[in-house]
Amino acid sequence: MSAPGRPTVVVTRRLPAPVEAELERAFDARLSRDDHPLTPAQLKDALRGADALVPTVSDRITGDTLAVEPLRARILANYGVGFNHIDVAAANARGVVVTNTPEVLTDDTADDAVMLLLMVARRAGEGERHVRSGAWTGWRPTHMLGTKVTGKTLGLIGLGRIGRAVARRAHHGFGMRVLFHDPYPPPADVVADLAAEPRATVEDVLREADFVSLHSPATPETRHLMNAERLACMRPTAFLINTARGDIVDEAALVAALRRGQLAGAALDVYEKEPHVTPDLLTMENVVLLPHLGSATEETRVAMGMRALDNLTAFFAGATPRDRVA
Ligand code: DGY
Repeated sequence: MSAPGRPTVVVTRRLPAPVEAELERAFDARLSRDDHPLTPAQLKDALRGADALVPTVSDRITGDTLAVEPLRARILANYGVGFNHIDVAAANARGVVVTNTPEVLTDDTADDAVMLLLMVARRAGEGERHVRSGAWTGWRPTHMLGTKVTGKTLGLIGLGRIGRAVARRAHHGFGMRVLFHDPYPPPADVVADLAAEPRATVEDVLREADFVSLHSPATPETRHLMNAERLACMRPTAFLINTARGDIVDEAALVAALRRGQLAGAALDVYEKEPHVTPDLLTMENVVLLPHLGSATEETRVAMGMRALDNLTAFFAGATPRDRVA
């Protein structure tokens, strides 16, 4: 039985301890014990039995899930900025509010993109494997030469919050020239501040960039944005970095393009069918693979939880949550 007056909140995964403690203090919180993604049936049960859900990217909340009867939940306070795993139109149609956790993870995700850029350019994953395997025989002038980063050209597909944070790091930290394409570009003063140069099309960016970093939201329009044709526009010496969402890249086309030498390498934090990774990618030395670590720092994962909590608190106080997306 829930305590009177305290909304029941189902949390689908383990969250950092301070966030779980605060959720238990503020709500009748049903925390995850085993940290497994909920099955479709469990998600339906949660929507029937709780006033709110705190889902994550590992939960697929589809139209079918939201068609559940009787529906008790009135808000999905997503733990994460991306919400393409939630059928927002279906939530809207059922009067369920959806919120996310923007801003607090911008810096960490930008750091992750820069880390991947450096790793793939300087062959860091390969070098680590080399040392750990015991194969290293010592310094020599021709050993494991990578690609210089400083002063090169970075192409950003998407110049939202995270794209801008990457641009700042690249331009001010590494003296890179920054190009971008964004169908909804930020105001001119923001772009000028970043010394970022707009390009009319994705292809224009791909043809010029030494590094291409993806920062678009996952929408039906951006699915397979990096398809075979676009990958073929990249320079054979260029690298692709993806910290956004997996389905922006056609992974099969990426494997084929890497095999043909249409680009020099790729560094991925996200995958089309997470946690499944296209097996061919696992065999390629010029590919860096991380397990969706963009926001994975203690500080940020706590901040994301507190932000989801703020959204729940505002909602149950009758206010519009700050991060309402639907
Ligand atoms: C985000 O916040 O979107 C992360 O990718 C996890 O969902």
